[in-house]
Amino acid sequence: MLPDFITKTEERALALHCHGLLTCKPYDTGHWDRVISQFREAELDMGSLPEDVHAIVARLTGLFRDGHQAEPRVHTIDLAEDGGHIDGHIDSVKFCGDHIIGLSLLSPSVLRMTRAAPDEVVRGSEELAGFQRAPLARHPGHAGPGGEADLLHAHSAQAVLWEPEEGTGRAGEFVDVLLPRRSAYVMHGVGRYGFLHAILGQKGDGTASPESELQVGLQKRRRISVIVRDAPRAKFAVNPNEA
Ligand code: OGA
Ligand code: MN
Repeated sequence: MLPDFITKTEERALALHCHGLLTCKPYDTGHWDRVISQFREAELDMGSLPEDVHAIVARLTGLFRDGHQAEPRVHTIDLAEDGGHIDGHIDSVKFCGDHIIGLSLLSPSVLRMTRAAPDEVVRGSEELAGFQRAPLARHPGHAGPGGEADLLHAHSAQAVLWEPEEGTGRAGEFVDVLLPRRSAYVMHGVGRYGFLHAILGQKGDGTASPESELQVGLQKRRRISVIVRDAPRAKFAVNPNEA
Protein backbone atom coordinates (compact mmCIF):
# COMPACT_ATOMS: atom_id res chain seq x y z
CA MET A 1 0.00 0.00 0.00
CA LEU A 2 1.38 3.38 -1.00
CA PRO A 3 -0.18 6.24 1.00
CA ASP A 4 -0.58 9.63 -0.67
CA PHE A 5 0.19 8.29 -4.10
CA ILE A 6 -1.55 11.33 -5.55
CA THR A 7 -2.17 14.88 -4.33
CA LYS A 8 -5.56 16.32 -3.39
CA THR A 9 -5.59 18.28 -6.66
CA GLU A 10 -4.96 15.10 -8.63
CA GLU A 11 -7.62 13.26 -6.65
CA ARG A 12 -10.15 15.94 -7.51
CA ALA A 13 -9.30 15.86 -11.23
CA LEU A 14 -9.47 12.07 -11.43
CA ALA A 15 -12.61 11.76 -9.31
CA LEU A 16 -14.39 14.39 -11.41
CA HIS A 17 -13.41 12.61 -14.61
CA CYS A 18 -14.63 9.23 -13.30
CA HIS A 19 -17.76 10.80 -11.84
CA GLY A 20 -18.64 12.09 -15.32
CA LEU A 21 -18.33 8.58 -16.75
CA LEU A 22 -20.21 6.90 -13.92
CA THR A 23 -23.21 9.05 -13.20
CA CYS A 24 -25.13 8.24 -16.35
CA LYS A 25 -26.30 5.03 -14.69
CA PRO A 26 -27.93 4.13 -11.38
CA TYR A 27 -26.17 2.01 -8.78
CA ASP A 28 -26.48 -1.65 -9.58
CA THR A 29 -27.69 -3.72 -6.66
CA GLY A 30 -25.54 -6.65 -7.72
CA HIS A 31 -26.15 -9.87 -9.60
CA TRP A 32 -26.47 -13.38 -8.29
CA ASP A 33 -23.26 -14.34 -10.10
CA ARG A 34 -21.27 -11.28 -9.10
CA VAL A 35 -19.41 -10.45 -5.96
CA ILE A 36 -20.11 -6.76 -5.98
CA SER A 37 -23.07 -4.78 -4.63
CA GLN A 38 -24.33 -1.20 -4.80
CA PHE A 39 -21.84 -0.21 -7.44
CA ARG A 40 -21.45 1.18 -10.89
CA GLU A 41 -18.50 0.83 -13.18
CA ALA A 42 -17.07 2.34 -16.32
CA GLU A 43 -14.03 2.07 -18.53
CA LEU A 44 -11.52 4.85 -19.00
CA ASP A 45 -10.33 5.25 -22.55
CA MET A 46 -6.60 5.95 -22.31
CA GLY A 47 -6.66 7.48 -25.78
CA SER A 48 -9.00 10.32 -24.87
CA LEU A 49 -8.14 11.23 -21.30
CA PRO A 50 -7.45 14.84 -20.39
CA GLU A 51 -3.72 15.40 -20.00
CA ASP A 52 -3.68 15.67 -16.19
CA VAL A 53 -5.77 12.52 -15.76
CA HIS A 54 -3.66 10.64 -18.29
CA ALA A 55 -0.50 11.52 -16.37
CA ILE A 56 -1.94 10.09 -13.13
CA VAL A 57 -3.02 6.82 -14.73
CA ALA A 58 0.38 6.54 -16.42
CA ARG A 59 2.04 6.86 -13.00
CA LEU A 60 -0.15 4.03 -11.77
CA THR A 61 0.81 1.73 -14.65
CA GLY A 62 4.43 2.71 -13.93
CA LEU A 63 4.11 0.47 -10.85
CA PHE A 64 4.16 -2.68 -13.01
CA ARG A 65 7.37 -4.59 -12.81
CA ASP A 66 9.68 -4.42 -15.81
CA GLY A 67 8.37 -5.89 -18.99
CA HIS A 68 4.72 -5.92 -18.00
CA GLN A 69 2.40 -3.99 -20.25
CA ALA A 70 -0.80 -2.42 -19.03
CA GLU A 71 -4.00 -3.62 -20.58
CA PRO A 72 -5.34 -0.63 -22.46
CA ARG A 73 -8.60 -0.88 -20.57
CA VAL A 74 -8.64 0.90 -17.24
CA HIS A 75 -11.62 0.42 -14.96
CA THR A 76 -13.27 2.69 -12.50
CA ILE A 77 -15.59 1.34 -9.83
CA ASP A 78 -17.93 3.43 -7.74
CA LEU A 79 -19.13 1.90 -4.47
CA ALA A 80 -22.14 3.60 -2.92
CA GLU A 81 -21.81 5.11 0.54
CA ASP A 82 -24.55 2.83 1.78
CA GLY A 83 -23.86 -0.83 1.22
CA GLY A 84 -21.26 -0.60 -1.55
CA HIS A 85 -18.85 -3.49 -1.19
CA ILE A 86 -16.96 -6.19 -3.06
CA ASP A 87 -16.96 -9.75 -1.71
CA GLY A 88 -13.84 -11.90 -1.74
CA HIS A 89 -12.74 -13.03 -5.19
CA ILE A 90 -9.68 -13.63 -7.30
CA ASP A 91 -9.58 -11.70 -10.57
CA SER A 92 -9.93 -13.99 -13.58
CA VAL A 93 -6.59 -15.27 -14.88
CA LYS A 94 -8.14 -15.16 -18.36
CA PHE A 95 -8.39 -11.40 -18.35
CA CYS A 96 -5.74 -10.24 -15.95
CA GLY A 97 -2.03 -10.95 -15.60
CA ASP A 98 0.39 -10.77 -12.71
CA HIS A 99 -0.57 -7.31 -11.42
CA ILE A 100 -3.67 -5.66 -10.08
CA ILE A 101 -3.10 -2.06 -9.12
CA GLY A 102 -5.76 0.09 -7.54
CA LEU A 103 -6.07 3.72 -6.57
CA SER A 104 -8.64 4.74 -3.94
CA LEU A 105 -10.45 8.06 -4.19
CA LEU A 106 -12.84 10.00 -1.92
CA SER A 107 -13.11 7.58 1.00
CA PRO A 108 -11.01 5.24 3.08
CA SER A 109 -11.95 1.58 2.97
CA VAL A 110 -10.79 -1.77 4.28
CA LEU A 111 -9.21 -4.32 1.96
CA ARG A 112 -9.40 -7.90 3.24
CA MET A 113 -6.96 -10.43 1.80
CA THR A 114 -7.95 -14.04 2.56
CA ARG A 115 -5.67 -16.99 1.84
CA ALA A 116 -7.36 -19.25 -0.70
CA ALA A 117 -7.63 -23.02 -0.50
CA PRO A 118 -6.05 -24.92 -3.41
CA ASP A 119 -9.47 -25.67 -4.92
CA GLU A 120 -10.39 -21.98 -4.92
CA VAL A 121 -7.72 -21.09 -7.47
CA VAL A 122 -8.03 -21.78 -11.16
CA ARG A 123 -6.58 -25.12 -12.23
CA GLY A 124 -3.11 -24.52 -13.58
CA SER A 125 -2.45 -21.49 -11.38
CA GLU A 126 -1.71 -23.42 -8.18
CA GLU A 127 2.03 -22.77 -8.25
CA LEU A 128 1.57 -19.07 -8.97
CA ALA A 129 -0.85 -19.09 -6.04
CA GLY A 130 1.83 -20.35 -3.67
CA PHE A 131 0.97 -24.05 -3.51
CA GLN A 132 3.30 -26.97 -4.03
CA ARG A 133 2.58 -30.61 -4.70
CA ALA A 134 2.39 -32.49 -1.43
CA PRO A 135 5.01 -35.25 -1.31
CA LEU A 136 3.50 -38.68 -2.08
CA ALA A 137 4.57 -40.00 1.27
CA ARG A 138 1.98 -37.77 2.89
CA HIS A 139 -0.90 -39.30 0.98
CA PRO A 140 -2.90 -41.43 3.36
CA GLY A 141 -2.52 -45.13 2.82
CA HIS A 142 0.75 -44.86 0.94
CA ALA A 143 2.74 -48.07 1.30
CA GLY A 144 6.14 -46.92 0.08
CA PRO A 145 7.85 -46.86 -3.31
CA GLY A 146 6.50 -49.48 -5.67
CA GLY A 147 3.95 -50.60 -3.13
CA GLU A 148 0.33 -51.30 -3.79
CA ALA A 149 -0.78 -47.86 -2.72
CA ASP A 150 1.58 -46.33 -5.30
CA LEU A 151 -0.13 -48.24 -8.05
CA LEU A 152 -3.50 -47.27 -6.72
CA HIS A 153 -2.43 -43.69 -6.67
CA ALA A 154 -1.17 -43.84 -10.23
CA HIS A 155 -4.59 -45.02 -11.34
CA SER A 156 -6.69 -42.76 -9.17
CA ALA A 157 -7.58 -40.05 -11.67
CA GLN A 158 -4.23 -38.40 -11.02
CA ALA A 159 -5.47 -36.59 -7.96
CA VAL A 160 -2.88 -34.05 -6.91
CA LEU A 161 -2.67 -32.84 -3.37
CA TRP A 162 -1.51 -29.27 -2.99
CA GLU A 163 -0.16 -27.71 0.15
CA PRO A 164 0.64 -24.07 0.86
CA GLU A 165 4.24 -23.05 0.48
CA GLU A 166 5.88 -22.13 3.73
CA GLY A 167 4.98 -18.67 4.92
CA THR A 168 1.94 -18.20 2.65
CA GLY A 169 -0.64 -18.90 5.33
CA ARG A 170 -3.45 -21.42 5.81
CA ALA A 171 -6.68 -21.30 3.84
CA GLY A 172 -9.10 -18.85 5.40
CA GLU A 173 -6.49 -16.78 7.23
CA PHE A 174 -6.89 -13.13 6.40
CA VAL A 175 -5.25 -9.79 6.82
CA ASP A 176 -7.06 -6.45 6.69
CA VAL A 177 -5.40 -3.41 5.19
CA LEU A 178 -6.66 0.13 5.58
CA LEU A 179 -6.74 1.90 2.24
CA PRO A 180 -6.74 5.65 2.87
CA ARG A 181 -8.10 7.90 0.14
CA ARG A 182 -5.42 8.82 -2.43
CA SER A 183 -3.47 5.63 -1.68
CA ALA A 184 -2.48 3.04 -4.27
CA TYR A 185 -2.06 -0.69 -3.75
CA VAL A 186 -0.26 -3.30 -5.79
CA MET A 187 -1.25 -6.98 -5.80
CA HIS A 188 1.39 -9.20 -7.29
CA GLY A 189 2.57 -12.80 -7.06
CA VAL A 190 0.93 -14.98 -4.41
CA GLY A 191 -1.08 -11.96 -3.23
CA ARG A 192 -2.67 -11.73 -6.66
CA TYR A 193 -3.12 -15.43 -7.49
CA GLY A 194 -3.43 -17.06 -4.07
CA PHE A 195 -5.51 -14.64 -1.98
CA LEU A 196 -9.12 -13.54 -2.34
CA HIS A 197 -9.51 -9.79 -2.08
CA ALA A 198 -12.55 -7.94 -0.80
CA ILE A 199 -13.51 -4.35 -0.11
CA LEU A 200 -15.58 -4.43 3.04
CA GLY A 201 -18.79 -2.47 3.12
CA GLN A 202 -20.25 -0.37 5.84
CA LYS A 203 -23.34 1.68 6.16
CA GLY A 204 -22.49 5.29 5.51
CA ASP A 205 -23.83 6.25 8.92
CA GLY A 206 -21.49 3.77 10.58
CA THR A 207 -24.26 1.91 12.44
CA ALA A 208 -23.60 -1.52 10.89
CA SER A 209 -21.52 -3.73 13.12
CA PRO A 210 -17.99 -3.77 11.80
CA GLU A 211 -16.49 -6.88 10.22
CA SER A 212 -13.02 -5.62 10.90
CA GLU A 213 -11.58 -3.62 13.76
CA LEU A 214 -10.11 -1.30 11.14
CA GLN A 215 -13.67 -0.18 10.40
CA VAL A 216 -14.18 1.13 13.91
CA GLY A 217 -14.31 4.90 13.70
CA LEU A 218 -13.90 4.81 9.93
CA GLN A 219 -16.45 6.93 8.13
CA LYS A 220 -16.79 5.15 4.80
CA ARG A 221 -18.37 7.30 2.15
CA ARG A 222 -18.79 6.92 -1.55
CA ARG A 223 -15.58 5.41 -2.88
CA ILE A 224 -14.29 5.50 -6.42
CA SER A 225 -11.38 3.31 -7.41
CA VAL A 226 -9.31 3.22 -10.56
CA ILE A 227 -7.95 -0.23 -11.40
CA VAL A 228 -5.20 -1.07 -13.88
CA ARG A 229 -4.24 -4.61 -14.80
CA ASP A 230 -1.68 -6.19 -17.10
CA ALA A 231 -2.21 -8.69 -19.89
CA PRO A 232 -3.05 -12.27 -18.88
CA ARG A 233 -0.35 -14.94 -19.06
CA ALA A 234 -0.36 -16.57 -22.48
CA LYS A 235 -1.36 -19.98 -21.09
CA PHE A 236 -4.54 -18.57 -19.58
CA ALA A 237 -5.45 -15.97 -22.19
CA VAL A 238 -8.64 -16.60 -24.10
CA ASN A 239 -7.83 -17.54 -27.65
CA PRO A 240 -9.69 -15.03 -29.81
CA ASN A 241 -10.57 -17.88 -32.21
CA GLU A 242 -12.33 -19.71 -29.40
CA ALA A 243 -14.04 -16.76 -27.78
C1 OGA B 1 -12.14 -5.54 -8.88
C2 OGA B 1 -11.68 -5.18 -7.53
C3 OGA B 1 -10.99 -3.49 -5.97
C4 OGA B 1 -11.06 -2.03 -5.76
O1 OGA B 1 -12.62 -4.64 -9.58
O2 OGA B 1 -12.00 -6.70 -9.29
O3 OGA B 1 -11.34 -6.06 -6.81
O4 OGA B 1 -10.14 -1.52 -5.09
N1 OGA B 1 -11.60 -3.88 -7.18
O5 OGA B 1 -11.99 -1.39 -6.25
MN1 MN C 1 -10.75 -7.79 -8.02
